[in-house]
Amino acid sequence: MTLPDKNAANSRRLNEILRSITRLRPLPTSTNRILRALDEPNTTAGFLADLIALDQALTAYTLRVANSAALGYAVSCASIKDAVMRLGFRQVRSLVISTVASGPLSSRLSGYRLGDKELWNHSVSVASAAHWLAGSIRYPDPEKAYVAGLLHDIGKLVLDQYVFADYNEMVNIMQTNQLTLWQVEQQLFGVDHAAVGGLITSHWQFPEELVDAIRYHHAPSLSQPYKRLAAIVNLANALLPAENSSSQNFALEGRIIHPDTLQILNIQEHLLESLQNRLIDAMFVYDARKPAA
Ligand SMILES: [Fe+2]
Ligand SMILES: [Fe+2]
Repeated sequence: MTLPDKNAANSRRLNEILRSITRLRPLPTSTNRILRALDEPNTTAGFLADLIALDQALTAYTLRVANSAALGYAVSCASIKDAVMRLGFRQVRSLVISTVASGPLSSRLSGYRLGDKELWNHSVSVASAAHWLAGSIRYPDPEKAYVAGLLHDIGKLVLDQYVFADYNEMVNIMQTNQLTLWQVEQQLFGVDHAAVGGLITSHWQFPEELVDAIRYHHAPSLSQPYKRLAAIVNLANALLPAENSSSQNFALEGRIIHPDTLQILNIQEHLLESLQNRLIDAMFVYDARKPAA
């Protein structure tokens, strides 16, 4: 009897994972139209408002955020065009991506032992923390950090079924070799959820910087041109208060700051605790822009 070749089985599985990404449905046409319009230099707030008005959930969400007193907007705006002008194109982009991502990210991930909406809540928390951190270190586009944080673990949606099948082996390897979840994914599947997330967002033709930040959110120094965005997501993921993350869960990536993250972001280690305290204080403001799942 010939024993099954583990390497062959692993490479078959890797090919299967990669093929399943290319078969993923594209973003809805309406979402793509808005994202494309946001990239066009000549797009007006009125034109964007017309596109947004075609989507009921996005319209309601845009108006809610634009009228949120908690975000400092005292005078309410009634039209979508006013809301777009108040929020700015960058924040509108975050709202569009949040609306389209909320469905898939809210699903239960049995492999990762994540219940309904658990990944969604974690994603929104990391997005908010990344936005705040980006602002506090003067990263030029905090909204980009928000989107990177929101989508950072999206690769788990694809890997979940494989994690489900290999759960016991994964826990065993993690405990025996003191490895993190993503390191074990690499060992068993030849790819981790961060790399898969990079492939998914690249499949959706998201900007390279965003794709790269998602791909390297556990190893920001590997991102050649865009280390800062990847490092912001890495730090946001690690500094979140325990109640805002799936801390007791198998899926927890360990609140581990990558050894290069602080250097990339030019943050002194002794200031980390006060940074974390300020971040925790700031998080309540983000409840006002939390998308409905
Ligand atoms: Fe992750
Ligand atoms: Fe995460």
